[in-house]
Amino acid sequence: MFEIIDMDLKGIISIPYLKIEANKLTVILGPSGCGKTSLLKLLNKLISPDSGDIYYCGKNLKDINSLELRKEVVMLSQNSPLFPESIKDNLKAALNYHMLPIPENFELREILKQVGINKDLDDKVLFLSGGEKSRVALARVLVLDPQVYLLDEPGASLDEKTEIFITEMLKDICQKKGKTMVMVTHSKEIARKYGDVIIDLKEYSRG
Ligand SMILES: Nc1ncnc2c1ncn2[C@@H]1O[C@H](COP(=O)(O)OP(=O)(O)OP(=O)(O)O)[C@@H](O)[C@H]1O
Ligand SMILES: [Mg+2]
Repeated sequence: MFEIIDMDLKGIISIPYLKIEANKLTVILGPSGCGKTSLLKLLNKLISPDSGDIYYCGKNLKDINSLELRKEVVMLSQNSPLFPESIKDNLKAALNYHMLPIPENFELREILKQVGINKDLDDKVLFLSGGEKSRVALARVLVLDPQVYLLDEPGASLDEKTEIFITEMLKDICQKKGKTMVMVTHSKEIARKYGDVIIDLKEYSRG
């Protein structure tokens, strides 16, 4: 799905060759500051390498329009900003931005169930807990149903049980819907249990 060739991001990461396979859950491990978030940003063309090339489905990212790319490749940021309004407003905003139709309420509620949030669509994000907010951010990615998910520590603010629940749900989507996922985690256990491929970014880090 992605191929990285002779890529260097100044002072951060240097990757001679790395392939990220389609329809797999690739887990990125590595210590804080080693460049995990930077790698996801490179794959989403939020930043560009100083040298080398990144290919998506055989096409150089340099030749792909960023907005077109982000219709298929959607990133969940480490600290996703949400609107303080309702959960539904947040989901709608993502759909509107991607010019996608708004599903029926029952379908949106189904997504909340998938991320384990026991709240109403009209509940205000302002009053949600940190872990609930992070799962609304994940729901906002799920509702877009992208081909590729770039997930930056989706379990960071969750307790162990909820993190496992979320990871199992993601793995299920990956397998049943044939999606490609690249997920950053600090949990070696999660990586070992759920990762189809594990990349230790420390190997490529210059930090
Ligand atoms: N645009 C930038 N310009 C210069 N340095 C940057 C830039 N973005 C990130 N860095 C640096 O690159 C290094 C890697 O940052 P990155 O956010 O990718 O780490 P990370 O592996 O995701 O860490 P964490 O586990 O703490 O989230 C850090 O030292 C950071 O300060
Ligand atoms: Mg990070």
